[in-house]
Amino acid sequence: MKNIDLDNLPKHIGIIMDGNGRWAKKRFLPRLAGHKEGMKRVIDIVEKSCRLGIKTLTLYAFSTENWKRPKEEVNGLMDILVVYINSQLKRILENNIIFRVIGDYSKLPKPVVKLLDDSIEKSKNNSGMVLNIALNYGGRSEIIFSIKTLVNDIVNNKISLNNLNEENFKDYLYTKENSDVDLIIRTGGEKRISNFMLYQLAYSEFYFTDILWPEFSENDLCDAIFDFQNRNRRFGGV
Ligand code: IPE
Ligand code: IPE
Ligand code: MG
Repeated sequence: MKNIDLDNLPKHIGIIMDGNGRWAKKRFLPRLAGHKEGMKRVIDIVEKSCRLGIKTLTLYAFSTENWKRPKEEVNGLMDILVVYINSQLKRILENNIIFRVIGDYSKLPKPVVKLLDDSIEKSKNNSGMVLNIALNYGGRSEIIFSIKTLVNDIVNNKISLNNLNEENFKDYLYTKENSDVDLIIRTGGEKRISNFMLYQLAYSEFYFTDILWPEFSENDLCDAIFDFQNRNRRFGGV
């Protein structure tokens, strides 16, 4: 295991958890078996990130484009989400984690929305790691949502157009209370962003790995952090 520097951790890690379907296919299993195994990795990675002292962890679980999948798969993913929360909420609360959802999750099945709202409410006074689950999330739709809210505030004289800048625009994003994403990890071998955190990634470091999400271990997370710590982030400077 690589020796990571605990004083130089990425504050905000985003993970595009990809490769569940291919993991299942390799084993001649249905795609949902891959998603179920993937859920176990979510448990491990949340726990590890929390123990390391990561401030914000954002997990891409369901994109605005994932509705294109067969109905059975979408329903299965919703069921897995429910199982995840029902089995993990206690642990999440014990770990002082602030549970949040980014994305328009009102479009999810009603019982799921209620469960999410309850979990958000129960954990809102915690003070540890922020765990953002991205559900019905798309970077473009987030930007459009932000602009709609912003225009509404301009019309209602809550903010003036002249005063709008990068700093206060951030307050309109789903991630308004989080810092920009420092490290984006994508498992499953594809080298693309697939509509994840388009605004927040302006200066992110990218870590692409062929490891399929159901096989992504705590050690692999440390490898990604180690890699991040050996990059030279210049932010346009020298
Ligand atoms: C990622 O795994 C999980 C979701 C998008 C919900 P995939 O289901 O995309 O797995 P692959 O890419 O088909 O292997
Ligand atoms: C990205 O994975 C979305 C999530 C991990 C939730 P996809 O499998 O949907 O992305 P594409 O289709 O390969 O771009
Ligand atoms: Mg995929």
